[in-house]
Amino acid sequence: MNSTKYLITSALPYINGEPHLGHMVGCLLPSDVYARFLRQKGEEVLYICGTDEHGTASEVGAIQEGIDIKEYCKRYHEVHVKLYTAFNLSFDYFGRTSSHQNKEITYHIFNQLDKNGYIEERTIKQVYSIDDEMFLADRYITGTCPYCGYEKARGDQCENCTKVLDPTDLINAKSSLSGSFNLEVRETKHLFIKLPELEEQLKKWLETKEYTWSEVAYSIAKKWLKEGLQERCITRDLKWGFPVPKPGFENKVFYVWFDAPIGYIGITKQWSDADPSLRNWKDWWLNAPDVKHIEFMGKDNVPYHTITFPAQLLGTKEAWTQVDFLKGMNYLTFNGGKFSKSEHRGIFISDAILEFPIDYWRYWLMANAPESSDSSFTFSSFANVINKDLNDVLGNFINRVMKMTLTNFGHVVPEGGDETEEERNLYTFIEDLTTTYTKYLSELEFRKALSTLREMWVEGNNYIARNEPWKVIKTDRDRAACILRTALNLIRVYAVLTAPIMPQTAKKMLELLQISSDNLGWITGSMKENLTTLKAGHAIHSPELLFSKIPPEKVEELVVKYKETEA
Ligand code: 2FM
Ligand code: ZN
Repeated sequence: MNSTKYLITSALPYINGEPHLGHMVGCLLPSDVYARFLRQKGEEVLYICGTDEHGTASEVGAIQEGIDIKEYCKRYHEVHVKLYTAFNLSFDYFGRTSSHQNKEITYHIFNQLDKNGYIEERTIKQVYSIDDEMFLADRYITGTCPYCGYEKARGDQCENCTKVLDPTDLINAKSSLSGSFNLEVRETKHLFIKLPELEEQLKKWLETKEYTWSEVAYSIAKKWLKEGLQERCITRDLKWGFPVPKPGFENKVFYVWFDAPIGYIGITKQWSDADPSLRNWKDWWLNAPDVKHIEFMGKDNVPYHTITFPAQLLGTKEAWTQVDFLKGMNYLTFNGGKFSKSEHRGIFISDAILEFPIDYWRYWLMANAPESSDSSFTFSSFANVINKDLNDVLGNFINRVMKMTLTNFGHVVPEGGDETEEERNLYTFIEDLTTTYTKYLSELEFRKALSTLREMWVEGNNYIARNEPWKVIKTDRDRAACILRTALNLIRVYAVLTAPIMPQTAKKMLELLQISSDNLGWITGSMKENLTTLKAGHAIHSPELLFSKIPPEKVEELVVKYKETEA
Protein backbone atom coordinates (compact mmCIF):
# COMPACT_ATOMS: atom_id res chain seq x y z
CA MET A 1 0.00 0.00 0.00
CA ASN A 2 1.38 3.45 -0.83
CA SER A 3 0.51 6.66 0.99
CA THR A 4 -2.07 7.92 -1.53
CA LYS A 5 -5.60 8.03 -0.14
CA TYR A 6 -8.58 7.79 -2.48
CA LEU A 7 -11.60 9.99 -1.91
CA ILE A 8 -14.46 8.79 -4.11
CA THR A 9 -17.71 10.69 -4.49
CA SER A 10 -20.85 9.98 -6.44
CA ALA A 11 -23.13 12.91 -7.39
CA LEU A 12 -25.67 13.36 -4.62
CA PRO A 13 -29.13 12.32 -5.82
CA TYR A 14 -31.99 14.77 -5.30
CA ILE A 15 -34.08 13.70 -2.36
CA ASN A 16 -37.35 14.15 -4.26
CA GLY A 17 -36.41 12.26 -7.41
CA GLU A 18 -37.12 8.58 -7.53
CA PRO A 19 -33.81 6.97 -8.49
CA HIS A 20 -33.80 5.07 -11.77
CA LEU A 21 -31.32 3.09 -13.84
CA GLY A 22 -29.99 6.34 -15.33
CA HIS A 23 -28.85 7.55 -11.90
CA MET A 24 -27.44 4.14 -11.17
CA VAL A 25 -25.28 3.93 -14.27
CA GLY A 26 -24.43 7.64 -14.33
CA CYS A 27 -22.65 7.82 -11.00
CA LEU A 28 -23.79 5.51 -8.18
CA LEU A 29 -22.77 2.16 -9.63
CA PRO A 30 -19.48 3.07 -11.37
CA SER A 31 -18.28 4.82 -8.21
CA ASP A 32 -19.15 1.69 -6.21
CA VAL A 33 -17.30 -0.57 -8.64
CA TYR A 34 -14.27 1.69 -8.44
CA ALA A 35 -14.35 1.88 -4.64
CA ARG A 36 -14.62 -1.90 -4.38
CA PHE A 37 -11.78 -2.37 -6.86
CA LEU A 38 -9.45 -0.04 -4.93
CA ARG A 39 -10.35 -1.59 -1.58
CA GLN A 40 -9.58 -5.04 -2.97
CA LYS A 41 -6.23 -3.67 -4.09
CA GLY A 42 -5.57 -2.69 -0.50
CA GLU A 43 -5.83 1.08 -1.00
CA GLU A 44 -7.19 3.44 1.62
CA VAL A 45 -10.57 4.53 0.31
CA LEU A 46 -13.29 6.85 1.54
CA TYR A 47 -16.47 6.55 -0.49
CA ILE A 48 -19.05 9.24 0.14
CA CYS A 49 -22.56 9.96 -1.11
CA GLY A 50 -25.84 11.28 0.26
CA THR A 51 -29.11 12.97 -0.51
CA ASP A 52 -29.23 16.47 -2.01
CA GLU A 53 -32.09 17.92 0.00
CA HIS A 54 -32.51 21.66 -0.56
CA GLY A 55 -34.21 23.55 -3.35
CA THR A 56 -37.66 24.28 -4.67
CA ALA A 57 -38.32 20.76 -5.90
CA SER A 58 -38.21 19.25 -2.41
CA GLU A 59 -40.16 22.15 -0.92
CA VAL A 60 -42.87 21.58 -3.53
CA GLY A 61 -42.71 17.80 -2.99
CA ALA A 62 -43.41 18.26 0.72
CA ILE A 63 -46.31 20.62 0.03
CA GLN A 64 -47.81 18.14 -2.41
CA GLU A 65 -47.59 15.35 0.15
CA GLY A 66 -48.91 17.64 2.86
CA ILE A 67 -46.05 17.04 5.26
CA ASP A 68 -43.38 19.14 6.88
CA ILE A 69 -40.27 19.49 4.72
CA LYS A 70 -37.98 18.08 7.42
CA GLU A 71 -40.20 15.04 7.82
CA TYR A 72 -40.34 14.71 4.03
CA CYS A 73 -36.55 14.71 3.73
CA LYS A 74 -36.12 12.27 6.58
CA ARG A 75 -38.64 9.90 5.03
CA TYR A 76 -37.13 9.97 1.55
CA HIS A 77 -33.58 9.80 2.81
CA GLU A 78 -34.54 6.42 4.27
CA VAL A 79 -36.04 5.37 0.93
CA HIS A 80 -32.77 6.18 -0.85
CA VAL A 81 -30.77 4.29 1.79
CA LYS A 82 -32.96 1.23 1.39
CA LEU A 83 -32.71 1.16 -2.39
CA TYR A 84 -28.94 1.64 -2.47
CA THR A 85 -28.40 -0.97 0.19
CA ALA A 86 -30.43 -3.38 -1.94
CA PHE A 87 -28.23 -2.52 -4.90
CA ASN A 88 -25.18 -3.38 -2.81
CA LEU A 89 -23.61 0.08 -2.96
CA SER A 90 -20.75 0.12 -0.49
CA PHE A 91 -20.65 3.74 0.71
CA ASP A 92 -18.54 4.42 3.75
CA TYR A 93 -21.15 7.02 4.57
CA PHE A 94 -24.42 8.05 2.97
CA GLY A 95 -25.24 11.43 4.48
CA ARG A 96 -27.42 14.47 3.89
CA THR A 97 -26.76 17.96 2.56
CA SER A 98 -29.13 19.42 5.17
CA SER A 99 -26.89 18.26 8.05
CA HIS A 100 -25.54 20.75 10.58
CA GLN A 101 -22.05 19.75 9.51
CA ASN A 102 -22.77 20.84 5.96
CA LYS A 103 -24.25 24.08 7.20
CA GLU A 104 -21.12 24.85 9.21
CA ILE A 105 -18.80 24.22 6.25
CA THR A 106 -21.09 26.06 3.80
CA TYR A 107 -20.99 29.10 6.09
CA HIS A 108 -17.24 28.91 6.38
CA ILE A 109 -16.78 28.76 2.60
CA PHE A 110 -19.25 31.56 2.02
CA ASN A 111 -17.59 33.81 4.63
CA GLN A 112 -14.18 33.22 3.08
CA LEU A 113 -15.49 34.07 -0.39
CA ASP A 114 -17.12 37.20 0.99
CA LYS A 115 -14.00 38.24 2.91
CA ASN A 116 -11.90 37.76 -0.22
CA GLY A 117 -14.19 40.01 -2.28
CA TYR A 118 -15.75 37.34 -4.51
CA ILE A 119 -19.36 38.01 -3.47
CA GLU A 120 -21.47 40.95 -4.69
CA GLU A 121 -25.04 42.13 -4.15
CA ARG A 122 -27.40 42.72 -7.04
CA THR A 123 -31.06 43.56 -7.38
CA ILE A 124 -32.96 41.41 -9.88
CA LYS A 125 -36.54 41.04 -11.06
CA GLN A 126 -38.41 37.80 -10.35
CA VAL A 127 -41.95 36.52 -10.57
CA TYR A 128 -43.73 36.41 -7.19
CA SER A 129 -46.87 34.36 -6.63
CA ILE A 130 -49.11 36.20 -4.19
CA ASP A 131 -51.24 33.13 -3.42
CA ASP A 132 -48.29 30.74 -3.03
CA GLU A 133 -46.48 33.42 -1.01
CA MET A 134 -43.24 32.70 -2.80
CA PHE A 135 -41.01 33.68 -5.67
CA LEU A 136 -41.38 31.07 -8.37
CA ALA A 137 -38.51 29.38 -10.14
CA ASP A 138 -38.97 29.76 -13.91
CA ARG A 139 -40.02 26.17 -14.40
CA TYR A 140 -42.93 26.56 -11.99
CA ILE A 141 -44.56 29.20 -14.16
CA THR A 142 -46.63 28.05 -17.12
CA GLY A 143 -48.60 29.85 -19.81
CA THR A 144 -49.12 30.21 -23.53
CA CYS A 145 -46.01 30.37 -25.69
CA PRO A 146 -45.94 33.69 -27.63
CA TYR A 147 -44.19 31.97 -30.55
CA CYS A 148 -46.26 28.86 -31.21
CA GLY A 149 -49.37 29.22 -29.05
CA TYR A 150 -48.64 26.07 -27.02
CA GLU A 151 -50.66 26.45 -23.83
CA LYS A 152 -48.47 24.55 -21.43
CA ALA A 153 -45.15 26.29 -22.08
CA ARG A 154 -42.88 26.62 -19.06
CA GLY A 155 -41.24 29.86 -17.95
CA ASP A 156 -37.79 28.67 -18.96
CA GLN A 157 -38.56 26.98 -22.28
CA CYS A 158 -41.41 25.96 -24.56
CA GLU A 159 -41.20 22.22 -24.99
CA ASN A 160 -43.33 22.42 -28.12
CA CYS A 161 -41.19 24.79 -30.23
CA THR A 162 -38.07 24.57 -27.96
CA LYS A 163 -37.72 28.40 -27.80
CA VAL A 164 -35.93 29.53 -24.65
CA LEU A 165 -38.25 31.84 -22.76
CA ASP A 166 -38.31 34.34 -19.96
CA PRO A 167 -41.34 33.89 -17.64
CA THR A 168 -42.51 37.38 -18.50
CA ASP A 169 -42.84 36.33 -22.18
CA LEU A 170 -45.68 33.94 -21.34
CA ILE A 171 -49.28 34.90 -22.11
CA ASN A 172 -51.68 34.19 -19.21
CA ALA A 173 -48.86 33.10 -16.95
CA LYS A 174 -49.86 31.11 -13.91
CA SER A 175 -48.24 29.30 -11.02
CA SER A 176 -48.01 25.58 -11.75
CA LEU A 177 -48.04 24.97 -8.00
CA SER A 178 -51.42 26.48 -7.15
CA GLY A 179 -52.75 27.34 -10.61
CA SER A 180 -53.04 30.96 -9.48
CA PHE A 181 -52.81 33.79 -12.04
CA ASN A 182 -52.14 36.21 -9.21
CA LEU A 183 -48.51 36.84 -10.13
CA GLU A 184 -46.37 39.94 -10.16
CA VAL A 185 -42.80 40.85 -10.99
CA ARG A 186 -40.95 42.03 -7.91
CA GLU A 187 -37.50 43.34 -7.31
CA THR A 188 -35.41 41.27 -5.00
CA LYS A 189 -31.83 41.52 -3.73
CA HIS A 190 -29.47 38.58 -4.20
CA LEU A 191 -25.86 37.56 -3.76
CA PHE A 192 -23.69 36.60 -6.71
CA ILE A 193 -20.34 34.86 -6.89
CA LYS A 194 -17.94 36.76 -9.14
CA LEU A 195 -16.83 33.90 -11.35
CA PRO A 196 -15.13 36.18 -13.94
CA GLU A 197 -12.57 37.12 -11.29
CA LEU A 198 -11.73 33.46 -10.76
CA GLU A 199 -11.62 32.63 -14.46
CA GLU A 200 -7.85 32.82 -14.97
CA GLN A 201 -7.12 30.59 -11.99
CA LEU A 202 -9.72 28.12 -13.20
CA LYS A 203 -8.24 28.06 -16.70
CA LYS A 204 -4.77 27.26 -15.40
CA TRP A 205 -6.14 24.54 -13.19
CA LEU A 206 -8.22 23.04 -15.99
CA GLU A 207 -5.21 22.75 -18.29
CA THR A 208 -3.72 20.21 -15.92
CA LYS A 209 -6.81 17.99 -16.23
CA GLU A 210 -6.95 17.17 -19.92
CA TYR A 211 -5.62 13.66 -19.43
CA THR A 212 -7.27 12.74 -16.17
CA TRP A 213 -10.87 13.71 -16.81
CA SER A 214 -13.17 11.77 -19.08
CA GLU A 215 -13.52 13.39 -22.49
CA VAL A 216 -17.11 14.50 -22.03
CA ALA A 217 -16.20 16.24 -18.75
CA TYR A 218 -13.14 18.01 -20.10
CA SER A 219 -14.87 19.22 -23.24
CA ILE A 220 -17.88 20.61 -21.35
CA ALA A 221 -15.61 22.51 -18.92
CA LYS A 222 -13.48 23.84 -21.75
CA LYS A 223 -16.55 25.06 -23.64
CA TRP A 224 -17.81 26.95 -20.59
CA LEU A 225 -14.49 28.67 -20.07
CA LYS A 226 -14.19 29.52 -23.75
CA GLU A 227 -17.55 31.23 -23.71
CA GLY A 228 -16.47 33.28 -20.68
CA LEU A 229 -17.91 33.09 -17.18
CA GLN A 230 -20.74 35.19 -15.78
CA GLU A 231 -21.48 36.15 -12.18
CA ARG A 232 -23.85 33.52 -10.75
CA CYS A 233 -26.62 34.00 -8.25
CA ILE A 234 -26.04 31.89 -5.14
CA THR A 235 -29.12 32.82 -3.09
CA ARG A 236 -32.85 32.19 -3.41
CA ASP A 237 -36.10 33.51 -1.93
CA LEU A 238 -37.19 30.23 -0.40
CA LYS A 239 -37.91 29.02 3.08
CA TRP A 240 -36.16 25.67 2.84
CA GLY A 241 -32.36 25.79 2.75
CA PHE A 242 -29.48 27.24 4.78
CA PRO A 243 -30.33 30.85 5.74
CA VAL A 244 -27.77 33.28 4.33
CA PRO A 245 -25.54 34.50 7.19
CA LYS A 246 -25.27 38.09 6.02
CA PRO A 247 -27.13 41.16 7.28
CA GLY A 248 -29.98 42.06 4.96
CA PHE A 249 -30.23 38.51 3.59
CA GLU A 250 -31.58 36.68 6.63
CA ASN A 251 -34.80 35.78 4.81
CA LYS A 252 -33.03 34.14 1.92
CA VAL A 253 -31.36 30.79 1.63
CA PHE A 254 -28.41 29.53 -0.38
CA TYR A 255 -29.17 28.18 -3.83
CA VAL A 256 -29.23 24.38 -3.75
CA TRP A 257 -26.23 24.14 -6.09
CA PHE A 258 -24.19 26.30 -3.70
CA ASP A 259 -24.38 23.93 -0.75
CA ALA A 260 -24.90 20.61 -2.60
CA PRO A 261 -21.28 20.03 -3.70
CA ILE A 262 -20.05 21.35 -0.36
CA GLY A 263 -22.16 18.41 0.82
CA TYR A 264 -19.31 16.07 -0.14
CA ILE A 265 -17.27 17.77 2.57
CA GLY A 266 -20.17 18.08 5.01
CA ILE A 267 -20.99 14.40 4.63
CA THR A 268 -17.34 13.49 5.24
CA LYS A 269 -17.63 15.44 8.48
CA GLN A 270 -20.86 13.58 9.32
CA TRP A 271 -18.88 10.37 8.79
CA SER A 272 -15.96 11.36 10.98
CA ASP A 273 -18.17 12.93 13.68
CA ALA A 274 -20.08 9.64 13.92
CA ASP A 275 -16.97 7.73 14.93
CA PRO A 276 -14.04 9.61 16.49
CA SER A 277 -11.73 6.66 15.92
CA LEU A 278 -11.87 7.39 12.18
CA ARG A 279 -9.67 9.90 10.42
CA ASN A 280 -10.71 13.50 10.81
CA TRP A 281 -12.60 14.90 7.81
CA LYS A 282 -9.87 17.49 7.32
CA ASP A 283 -7.35 14.75 6.51
CA TRP A 284 -9.38 14.25 3.35
CA TRP A 285 -10.27 17.80 2.46
CA LEU A 286 -7.85 20.44 3.75
CA ASN A 287 -4.12 20.58 3.09
CA ALA A 288 -4.25 16.97 1.97
CA PRO A 289 -1.85 16.55 -0.99
CA ASP A 290 -1.84 12.78 -0.48
CA VAL A 291 -5.55 12.58 -1.39
CA LYS A 292 -6.69 11.70 -4.91
CA HIS A 293 -10.25 12.85 -5.37
CA ILE A 294 -12.34 11.00 -7.94
CA GLU A 295 -15.82 12.27 -8.79
CA PHE A 296 -18.54 10.42 -10.71
CA MET A 297 -21.53 12.14 -12.30
CA GLY A 298 -23.89 12.41 -15.26
CA LYS A 299 -22.91 14.96 -17.92
CA ASP A 300 -25.55 17.48 -16.81
CA ASN A 301 -23.68 17.84 -13.52
CA VAL A 302 -20.31 18.51 -15.14
CA PRO A 303 -20.39 22.35 -15.24
CA TYR A 304 -21.11 22.51 -11.50
CA HIS A 305 -18.20 20.22 -10.67
CA THR A 306 -15.68 21.65 -13.12
CA ILE A 307 -16.47 25.36 -12.88
CA THR A 308 -18.69 26.54 -10.04
CA PHE A 309 -17.68 24.21 -7.20
CA PRO A 310 -13.93 24.44 -7.94
CA ALA A 311 -14.35 28.25 -8.11
CA GLN A 312 -16.12 28.27 -4.74
CA LEU A 313 -13.15 26.42 -3.26
CA LEU A 314 -10.47 28.44 -5.06
CA GLY A 315 -12.03 31.69 -3.90
CA THR A 316 -11.55 30.75 -0.25
CA LYS A 317 -7.76 30.94 -0.76
CA GLU A 318 -7.51 27.81 1.33
CA ALA A 319 -6.02 24.49 0.24
CA TRP A 320 -9.20 22.44 -0.29
CA THR A 321 -9.00 19.11 -2.08
CA GLN A 322 -10.08 19.58 -5.69
CA VAL A 323 -11.18 16.91 -8.12
CA ASP A 324 -8.31 14.94 -9.68
CA PHE A 325 -10.22 12.47 -11.84
CA LEU A 326 -13.68 13.27 -13.08
CA LYS A 327 -15.82 10.60 -14.69
CA GLY A 328 -18.69 12.21 -16.56
CA MET A 329 -21.21 9.80 -18.06
CA ASN A 330 -23.56 10.31 -20.96
CA TYR A 331 -27.19 9.30 -20.63
CA LEU A 332 -28.89 5.96 -20.54
CA THR A 333 -32.08 6.35 -22.57
CA PHE A 334 -35.33 4.44 -22.71
CA ASN A 335 -37.77 4.66 -25.64
CA GLY A 336 -35.41 7.13 -27.23
CA GLY A 337 -35.56 9.65 -24.39
CA LYS A 338 -34.56 10.40 -20.86
CA PHE A 339 -36.19 8.64 -17.94
CA SER A 340 -39.17 10.54 -16.61
CA LYS A 341 -40.90 10.13 -13.31
CA SER A 342 -43.96 12.19 -14.19
CA GLU A 343 -44.57 10.24 -17.39
CA HIS A 344 -43.57 7.07 -15.63
CA ARG A 345 -41.15 6.25 -18.40
CA GLY A 346 -38.18 4.07 -17.58
CA ILE A 347 -37.11 1.54 -15.01
CA PHE A 348 -36.92 2.76 -11.44
CA ILE A 349 -34.64 1.12 -8.90
CA SER A 350 -37.57 0.15 -6.72
CA ASP A 351 -38.92 -1.93 -9.63
CA ALA A 352 -35.57 -3.19 -10.89
CA ILE A 353 -34.68 -4.84 -7.60
CA LEU A 354 -37.92 -6.81 -7.69
CA GLU A 355 -37.56 -8.05 -11.26
CA PHE A 356 -34.09 -9.61 -11.31
CA PRO A 357 -31.13 -10.34 -9.05
CA ILE A 358 -29.09 -7.18 -8.45
CA ASP A 359 -25.98 -8.60 -10.10
CA TYR A 360 -27.81 -8.97 -13.40
CA TRP A 361 -28.46 -5.22 -13.34
CA ARG A 362 -24.98 -4.39 -12.13
CA TYR A 363 -23.43 -6.43 -14.93
CA TRP A 364 -25.65 -5.12 -17.72
CA LEU A 365 -25.28 -1.51 -16.63
CA MET A 366 -21.50 -1.62 -16.41
CA ALA A 367 -21.13 -3.59 -19.65
CA ASN A 368 -23.30 -0.99 -21.39
CA ALA A 369 -22.22 2.13 -19.52
CA PRO A 370 -22.88 5.26 -21.61
CA GLU A 371 -19.24 6.30 -21.64
CA SER A 372 -18.45 7.69 -25.07
CA SER A 373 -22.07 8.29 -26.11
CA ASP A 374 -25.60 7.76 -24.82
CA SER A 375 -26.72 4.13 -24.68
CA SER A 376 -30.24 2.81 -24.62
CA PHE A 377 -31.88 0.24 -22.42
CA THR A 378 -34.13 -2.42 -23.88
CA PHE A 379 -35.33 -5.60 -22.25
CA SER A 380 -34.22 -7.69 -25.20
CA SER A 381 -30.65 -6.36 -24.96
CA PHE A 382 -30.77 -6.99 -21.23
CA ALA A 383 -31.95 -10.59 -21.66
CA ASN A 384 -29.42 -11.20 -24.42
CA VAL A 385 -26.47 -10.08 -22.35
CA ILE A 386 -27.58 -11.95 -19.24
CA ASN A 387 -28.33 -15.12 -21.16
CA LYS A 388 -25.11 -15.10 -23.13
CA ASP A 389 -22.46 -13.62 -20.86
CA LEU A 390 -23.67 -14.77 -17.49
CA ASN A 391 -25.48 -18.02 -18.31
CA ASP A 392 -23.78 -19.44 -21.35
CA VAL A 393 -20.28 -18.23 -20.67
CA LEU A 394 -19.57 -17.77 -16.95
CA GLY A 395 -22.35 -19.92 -15.46
CA ASN A 396 -21.82 -22.75 -17.89
CA PHE A 397 -18.08 -22.85 -17.24
CA ILE A 398 -18.50 -23.04 -13.47
CA ASN A 399 -21.23 -25.62 -13.69
CA ARG A 400 -19.43 -27.95 -16.08
CA VAL A 401 -16.16 -27.83 -14.21
CA MET A 402 -17.74 -28.48 -10.84
CA LYS A 403 -20.02 -31.24 -12.11
CA MET A 404 -17.20 -33.09 -13.84
CA THR A 405 -15.06 -32.78 -10.73
CA LEU A 406 -17.77 -34.14 -8.44
CA THR A 407 -18.65 -37.01 -10.73
CA ASN A 408 -15.08 -38.13 -11.16
CA PHE A 409 -13.23 -37.02 -8.05
CA GLY A 410 -15.82 -36.21 -5.37
CA HIS A 411 -15.97 -33.03 -3.26
CA VAL A 412 -12.28 -32.14 -3.54
CA VAL A 413 -9.83 -30.44 -5.83
CA PRO A 414 -8.45 -33.40 -7.80
CA GLU A 415 -4.98 -34.72 -7.30
CA GLY A 416 -2.50 -35.83 -9.98
CA GLY A 417 -0.96 -34.74 -13.27
CA ASP A 418 1.53 -32.00 -14.10
CA GLU A 419 1.07 -28.81 -16.07
CA THR A 420 1.57 -29.00 -19.82
CA GLU A 421 1.99 -26.47 -22.61
CA GLU A 422 -1.80 -26.02 -22.48
CA GLU A 423 -1.69 -24.73 -18.88
CA ARG A 424 1.37 -22.58 -19.54
CA ASN A 425 -0.43 -20.93 -22.46
CA LEU A 426 -3.47 -20.39 -20.28
CA TYR A 427 -1.33 -18.72 -17.58
CA THR A 428 0.07 -16.27 -20.12
CA PHE A 429 -3.30 -15.54 -21.68
CA ILE A 430 -5.11 -14.92 -18.38
CA GLU A 431 -2.19 -12.98 -16.93
CA ASP A 432 -2.18 -10.57 -19.89
CA LEU A 433 -5.92 -10.10 -19.71
CA THR A 434 -5.78 -9.53 -15.95
CA THR A 435 -3.22 -6.79 -16.49
CA THR A 436 -5.40 -5.20 -19.16
CA TYR A 437 -8.53 -5.50 -17.03
CA THR A 438 -6.80 -3.94 -14.03
CA LYS A 439 -5.53 -1.10 -16.19
CA TYR A 440 -9.00 -0.38 -17.58
CA LEU A 441 -10.56 -0.36 -14.13
CA SER A 442 -7.83 2.00 -12.89
CA GLU A 443 -8.56 4.29 -15.82
CA LEU A 444 -12.34 4.11 -15.21
CA GLU A 445 -12.86 2.58 -18.67
CA PHE A 446 -15.70 0.33 -17.62
CA ARG A 447 -16.98 -1.00 -20.93
CA LYS A 448 -13.50 -2.00 -21.98
CA ALA A 449 -12.88 -3.53 -18.56
CA LEU A 450 -16.02 -5.63 -18.79
CA SER A 451 -15.34 -6.88 -22.28
CA THR A 452 -11.88 -7.96 -21.08
CA LEU A 453 -13.42 -9.78 -18.14
CA ARG A 454 -15.80 -11.55 -20.49
CA GLU A 455 -12.88 -12.54 -22.70
CA MET A 456 -11.32 -14.22 -19.68
CA TRP A 457 -14.52 -16.17 -19.02
CA VAL A 458 -14.67 -17.24 -22.68
CA GLU A 459 -11.11 -18.50 -22.45
CA GLY A 460 -12.13 -20.76 -19.56
CA ASN A 461 -14.69 -22.46 -21.80
CA ASN A 462 -12.18 -22.67 -24.65
CA TYR A 463 -9.63 -24.28 -22.37
CA ILE A 464 -12.13 -26.94 -21.34
CA ALA A 465 -13.34 -27.48 -24.91
CA ARG A 466 -9.77 -27.87 -26.19
CA ASN A 467 -8.73 -30.27 -23.44
CA GLU A 468 -11.90 -32.37 -23.22
CA PRO A 469 -11.52 -33.66 -19.64
CA TRP A 470 -14.71 -35.73 -20.07
CA LYS A 471 -12.91 -37.80 -22.71
CA VAL A 472 -9.44 -37.72 -21.17
CA ILE A 473 -10.75 -39.14 -17.89
CA LYS A 474 -11.34 -42.46 -19.62
CA THR A 475 -7.70 -42.89 -20.59
CA ASP A 476 -5.61 -40.57 -18.40
CA ARG A 477 -7.05 -39.80 -14.96
CA ASP A 478 -4.04 -37.70 -13.92
CA ARG A 479 -4.31 -35.45 -16.96
CA ALA A 480 -8.05 -34.92 -16.31
CA ALA A 481 -7.24 -34.07 -12.69
CA CYS A 482 -4.78 -31.41 -13.76
CA ILE A 483 -7.26 -29.85 -16.20
CA LEU A 484 -10.07 -29.72 -13.63
CA ARG A 485 -7.76 -28.48 -10.87
CA THR A 486 -6.61 -25.64 -13.12
CA ALA A 487 -10.21 -24.88 -14.06
CA LEU A 488 -11.28 -24.77 -10.39
CA ASN A 489 -8.46 -22.33 -9.74
CA LEU A 490 -9.72 -20.29 -12.64
CA ILE A 491 -13.09 -19.99 -10.89
CA ARG A 492 -11.29 -18.48 -7.89
CA VAL A 493 -9.46 -15.98 -10.11
CA TYR A 494 -12.72 -15.08 -11.86
CA ALA A 495 -14.45 -14.57 -8.51
CA VAL A 496 -11.80 -12.15 -7.27
CA LEU A 497 -11.79 -10.16 -10.50
CA THR A 498 -15.58 -10.15 -10.81
CA ALA A 499 -16.22 -9.03 -7.23
CA PRO A 500 -16.27 -5.24 -7.86
CA ILE A 501 -18.93 -5.73 -10.54
CA MET A 502 -21.02 -8.58 -9.11
CA PRO A 503 -20.20 -8.87 -5.39
CA GLN A 504 -22.96 -11.35 -4.55
CA THR A 505 -22.08 -13.67 -7.41
CA ALA A 506 -18.38 -13.52 -6.54
CA LYS A 507 -19.22 -14.44 -2.96
CA LYS A 508 -21.26 -17.44 -4.13
CA MET A 509 -18.47 -18.55 -6.44
CA LEU A 510 -16.03 -18.48 -3.56
CA GLU A 511 -18.48 -20.32 -1.33
CA LEU A 512 -18.64 -23.13 -3.89
CA LEU A 513 -14.89 -23.42 -3.49
CA GLN A 514 -15.14 -23.07 0.29
CA ILE A 515 -13.06 -19.90 0.29
CA SER A 516 -13.93 -16.95 2.51
CA SER A 517 -14.73 -13.72 0.73
CA ASP A 518 -13.61 -11.56 3.66
CA ASN A 519 -10.65 -9.30 2.98
CA LEU A 520 -10.66 -10.23 -0.64
CA GLY A 521 -7.42 -9.09 -2.25
CA TRP A 522 -6.71 -8.52 -5.94
CA ILE A 523 -5.03 -10.87 -8.39
CA THR A 524 -1.36 -9.97 -8.51
CA GLY A 525 1.84 -11.91 -9.15
CA SER A 526 2.28 -14.70 -11.65
CA MET A 527 -0.74 -16.48 -13.04
CA LYS A 528 1.05 -19.79 -12.56
CA GLU A 529 0.91 -19.09 -8.83
CA ASN A 530 -2.67 -17.90 -8.97
CA LEU A 531 -3.86 -20.88 -10.98
CA THR A 532 -2.23 -23.33 -8.60
CA THR A 533 -3.36 -21.70 -5.33
CA LEU A 534 -6.06 -24.28 -4.62
CA LYS A 535 -4.18 -27.49 -3.94
CA ALA A 536 -5.27 -31.09 -4.42
CA GLY A 537 -7.48 -32.25 -1.59
CA HIS A 538 -9.06 -28.84 -0.85
CA ALA A 539 -12.77 -29.47 -0.17
CA ILE A 540 -15.44 -28.00 -2.46
CA HIS A 541 -19.24 -27.89 -2.44
CA SER A 542 -21.72 -29.26 -4.96
CA PRO A 543 -22.45 -26.82 -7.79
CA GLU A 544 -25.51 -24.68 -7.73
CA LEU A 545 -26.89 -22.65 -10.59
CA LEU A 546 -25.69 -19.05 -10.29
CA PHE A 547 -27.86 -17.65 -13.05
CA SER A 548 -31.01 -18.57 -14.88
CA LYS A 549 -31.97 -17.65 -18.41
CA ILE A 550 -34.51 -14.94 -19.11
CA PRO A 551 -37.04 -16.53 -21.51
CA PRO A 552 -38.56 -14.57 -24.44
CA GLU A 553 -42.00 -14.62 -22.73
CA LYS A 554 -40.55 -12.75 -19.79
CA VAL A 555 -39.05 -10.15 -22.13
CA GLU A 556 -42.44 -9.69 -23.79
CA GLU A 557 -44.14 -9.35 -20.43
CA LEU A 558 -41.68 -6.67 -19.30
CA VAL A 559 -41.92 -4.74 -22.57
CA VAL A 560 -45.65 -4.38 -21.96
CA LYS A 561 -45.36 -3.74 -18.23
CA TYR A 562 -42.80 -0.95 -18.64
CA LYS A 563 -44.30 0.40 -21.89
CA GLU A 564 -41.19 -0.15 -23.95
CA THR A 565 -41.86 1.07 -27.46
CA GLU A 566 -38.46 1.17 -29.14
CA ALA A 567 -36.43 -1.93 -29.66
O1 2FM B 1 -28.37 16.18 -10.56
C1 2FM B 1 -28.54 15.85 -9.39
O2 2FM B 1 -29.14 14.81 -9.08
C2 2FM B 1 -27.93 16.69 -8.29
N1 2FM B 1 -28.67 16.49 -7.08
C3 2FM B 1 -26.48 16.34 -8.14
C4 2FM B 1 -25.77 17.08 -7.05
S1 2FM B 1 -24.14 16.60 -6.99
C5 2FM B 1 -23.43 17.44 -5.75
F1 2FM B 1 -22.97 18.54 -6.16
F2 2FM B 1 -24.14 17.53 -4.74
ZN1 ZN C 1 -43.63 27.49 -28.33
